[in-house]
Amino acid sequence: MEGGIPEGHMVLVCGSAGTMKSTLAYYVLYHEILEGDYNGLYITLEQSKSNLLTHMEGMGMNSSAVEGRLDILDLSQMRREILTEGQDMWMDFLSHLIQLIQRVESCKLVVLDSLNALYSLVNFQNPRNELFLFFEKFRDLGTTTFFIAESVSDAITCGEYGLEDFMCDGIIRLTMRNQGEGFSRYIRCVKMRSSRLDTSFFPLLVTETGFKIIQK
Ligand SMILES: Nc1ncnc2c1ncn2[C@@H]1O[C@H](COP(=O)(O)OP(=O)(O)OP(=O)(O)O)[C@@H](O)[C@H]1O
Ligand SMILES: [Mg+2]
Repeated sequence: MEGGIPEGHMVLVCGSAGTMKSTLAYYVLYHEILEGDYNGLYITLEQSKSNLLTHMEGMGMNSSAVEGRLDILDLSQMRREILTEGQDMWMDFLSHLIQLIQRVESCKLVVLDSLNALYSLVNFQNPRNELFLFFEKFRDLGTTTFFIAESVSDAITCGEYGLEDFMCDGIIRLTMRNQGEGFSRYIRCVKMRSSRLDTSFFPLLVTETGFKIIQK
């Protein structure tokens, strides 16, 4: 990928359970913030903040190094409340979410984990229109945004509705394949608007010093 993900892009990070979607998205956010002079926000709708931080610390990412610059917004409790109170609150929830992001000073990077958890809050009447409005709200924010999407490894589309694949600027797919007794991890950039790409699967290694992508 020529020089990485262009600023302001909306990128789907998809894969099945345990393929390291959350870790990869957090890793990018963490290192960009560590090395840059801007802030970022990780929005979690399912995994609690403490659970997420414990995992990331275990992966070698020390949260105190980005304290005050990488915020984690834990909406798992709010999601539970919305699910019990009824789904009419979706538009309120969405507006509130956008306001929360706008309140983070110099926020250039956002991760939303996950789209599937967000969808559980709403009965879409017309997914094409409603998802379009949803993604446009994020595009208007101007941040580089990673949307995590759960998908089975052989699914043709990455988003739950398939529409997300077209509405987003980029798609990164993570997979695991059996290899002898164990398994190997792979990463593939399926699409990245305005970048020339090699769309093959590349081995993804998890090392003591972070992720490594093995070039052919
Ligand atoms: N210290 C570690 N070193 C290497 N791999 C680890 C370590 N700790 C956990 N893992 C791996 O990380 C995986 C979980 O990563 P992560 O939560 O990012 O995946 P995910 O794709 O977001 O999962 P989910 O679909 O459940 O949200 C575990 O399944 C485990 O295999
Ligand atoms: Mg996850």
